[in-house]
Amino acid sequence: MAKNFESMEASNASGNPSIHEVSDPARRLWLRGGLGASVAGLLSPLAVPGGALGALLAGCSTAPPLGSTPLLGFSSVALSEADSVTVPKGYMAQVLQAWGEPVGVPGNAPAFRFDGSNSAADQAVQMGMHHDGLGFFALDGRSDRGLLVSNHEYADHGLLFTDGGREWGPEQVAKSQAAHGFSVTEIARQADGRWQAERSSRRARRITAATPHALGGPAAGHKLMRTAADPEGRRVLGTFANCAASRTPWGSYLAGEENFIGYFLGPNRPNEHERRWGMRPGEQYGYRWAEHDERFMVERHRNEPNRFGWVVEFDPYDPDSVPVKRTALGRAAHEGATVAMTRDGRAVVYSGEDARFEYIYKFVSRDKVRPGGFKANAELLDHGTLYVARFDADGRGRWLPLLHGRGGLTLENDFADQGEVLIKARQASDRLGATKMDRPEWIAVDPQGNVYCTLTNNSQRGAPGRPAVDAANPRENNVGGHILRWKEDGDFDGETFAWSHFVLAGDPREARDGARGRMQGDAFACPDGLFADARGLLWIQTDMSSSEMGVGVAYLKRDPTLGELGPKEVARLGNNVMLAADPATGEVRRFLVGPVGAEITGADMTPDGRTLFINVQHPGETPGDRSDPANPRLFSNWPDQRPDGRPRSATLAIRKLDGGVIGS
Ligand code: FEO
Ligand code: CA
Ligand code: CA
Repeated sequence: MAKNFESMEASNASGNPSIHEVSDPARRLWLRGGLGASVAGLLSPLAVPGGALGALLAGCSTAPPLGSTPLLGFSSVALSEADSVTVPKGYMAQVLQAWGEPVGVPGNAPAFRFDGSNSAADQAVQMGMHHDGLGFFALDGRSDRGLLVSNHEYADHGLLFTDGGREWGPEQVAKSQAAHGFSVTEIARQADGRWQAERSSRRARRITAATPHALGGPAAGHKLMRTAADPEGRRVLGTFANCAASRTPWGSYLAGEENFIGYFLGPNRPNEHERRWGMRPGEQYGYRWAEHDERFMVERHRNEPNRFGWVVEFDPYDPDSVPVKRTALGRAAHEGATVAMTRDGRAVVYSGEDARFEYIYKFVSRDKVRPGGFKANAELLDHGTLYVARFDADGRGRWLPLLHGRGGLTLENDFADQGEVLIKARQASDRLGATKMDRPEWIAVDPQGNVYCTLTNNSQRGAPGRPAVDAANPRENNVGGHILRWKEDGDFDGETFAWSHFVLAGDPREARDGARGRMQGDAFACPDGLFADARGLLWIQTDMSSSEMGVGVAYLKRDPTLGELGPKEVARLGNNVMLAADPATGEVRRFLVGPVGAEITGADMTPDGRTLFINVQHPGETPGDRSDPANPRLFSNWPDQRPDGRPRSATLAIRKLDGGVIGS
């Protein structure tokens, strides 16, 4: 999650919270029970999401055999504030593909320069910054060779440039844009068990904030999508702010475009639509792209922001494939997107919008998934129905369809057609009375068909002039965050569901309700990444930000002037972590602790379940906007720990020393 997201995370001023503004103590008790008797009834077996069918379609097996071993088979690791990674006894974590490593484009593999002096052209063939969601795409179904795809969510100019970006021109903008997007690298497990990236692979590629993307679905070609450079409204340059990621059962990669607004320089007088999407006059995040890339100047290119905020799909197996923005899934500050399959073979895509008081969506495809990989399903996500979630106080919920002509989504209300409904999905959801959530991040679907969503935190819940607590978002100043679980009625395309809280996160030692955790097992706060593995473990990753709640001892030790900021609530939880939960018992166990200031994010496994890949994002993140180029190692020097280095996001390949299945 990038910095400076205040303005656009609080742009929902719609008046639709009324029926949800309840705080029912009895309900809270029921929720706290986690997976008690009341929820156990929800666990009737359903088709494995993307399981048997998905494996068939993608041409690889995914499920290690379910044995009699306990789900949580590892020993919990201790909290830590060290600038290192801790994994359980019997495991090892190997650093792979840090920012700046060449991705392996044949004949074009410039080495990383530790002083940040690589050019824009170098960066365009090197790993981007700030790794986030990832996916392992097995080659020929193998567990020892595959394509590793990573998101590169955002850039820290204080680390990206030797001078922190003091000199600013087209070259610097191009380098910043090249540090965003996706990377594809081919990796292989060596005889000694270690993973290594191929330094030359025909499949290696970068997709950046300048790479051409196609538009698919009802908003492609819409008049609100047309620009001077693209009068047809069908071809967009680039993707950025990509957070969560997933593999589809048909073998493609899905990623969201999250908080994209701050990359644009706001217009002088934003209209109602622009304001609803967080645009403020003359405001931007500090990326300064607009100064040398005019399309980011909204005053001159009013529709350019409408071309971001989509779920992006691409085929990593084909290095020439053009990524597609899937407008049928709606426009939002999409954290990511996760696919489940109905019993009759249609795709259901869940997606949250990581912004305060925004929404959770689901898309149900019209057509069935066809065998034959991405090419056979190239338009699957262009046709179907989009819904937004309403969580009712009685533990039930309803999916509200975003269909032009229904529920007031009509011309009189500024929705001319289905394309406009999708481009203005937030306004459409406001009108339908969807539930305003505490920043929905990742969504995972377990083998029993339970759907989970992390609500990472919301310090503005219940604040003056902001929405009050409701049943699904039950805590004021929700610093700890929570995880919701629901089960659809019937199948994944059901229009109603039953929901509960899987966990209210936070530190159990905190006195205040919104920061106090209620969980069985190890404490954690600010859940973000989620990954359900084939054995049924639910993996949880945390993102306590250094500016908001994570100013702990490690930070104060390195910069005593931060005393004014901290220590904050939940700061005693140390560095960010990854945990595993047993969905049946609710027990949560700490599996990994990251380095200082890093968020733990992204997870995928090899088909045999014996290597887990995760990403370590923004080690040493400063509580301010940018790292100090004169002192880049102030908070962290992970993973290189070189006297002349700088902290770098990187992937970890985690294995058991005995070669066993991860988590067992
Ligand atoms: Fe980019 Fe919501 O994390
Ligand atoms: Ca986050
Ligand atoms: Ca995230």
